[in-house]
Amino acid sequence: MLSEKLHQAINKQINAEFWSANLYLSMSAWFADKGLPGFSHWMKEQFKEEQEHAMRFFNYLVSRGAKVEIGAYAAVPVDWKDAKKVFEDTLHHEQVVTGMINDLYTLALEEKDYATQSMLKWFIDEQVEEEDTARGILDALCHIKDNSFGLYRLDKEMGERQG
Ligand code: FEO
Repeated sequence: MLSEKLHQAINKQINAEFWSANLYLSMSAWFADKGLPGFSHWMKEQFKEEQEHAMRFFNYLVSRGAKVEIGAYAAVPVDWKDAKKVFEDTLHHEQVVTGMINDLYTLALEEKDYATQSMLKWFIDEQVEEEDTARGILDALCHIKDNSFGLYRLDKEMGERQG
């Protein structure tokens, strides 16, 4: 049986993943407004991915016979200085999420919950990928600097992201 501590912590993570989804949807809206449809598309895919993360945790709690409680979400930012700042925030946010997943794993170890440890391994690997992707795009934006043609080309590439 899932301990109450883990139950509450995973429930909190479900809500955090939905907050992440809202953050990326807000970034998608910002890019759309700035005339960068490729970046907007990429962020929309990221929004869907975060919803999938939330649902993985949701389904896990249900499968362990634990009730899910969806709470209210704090407002997300709506404006950024430029595309580079969006991806600095994205990378920073993913690093914070990595810390949350690590804390969950530490708790699962303390509670000797082997099933939760096993479930969390997928998320540990996923966070390596999430940080790497955000870092790669941030690097590209740093190289481009104020070159508008470079930004135009990168926007085209971002638009090719598959779900
Ligand atoms: Fe759900 Fe981007 O971590």
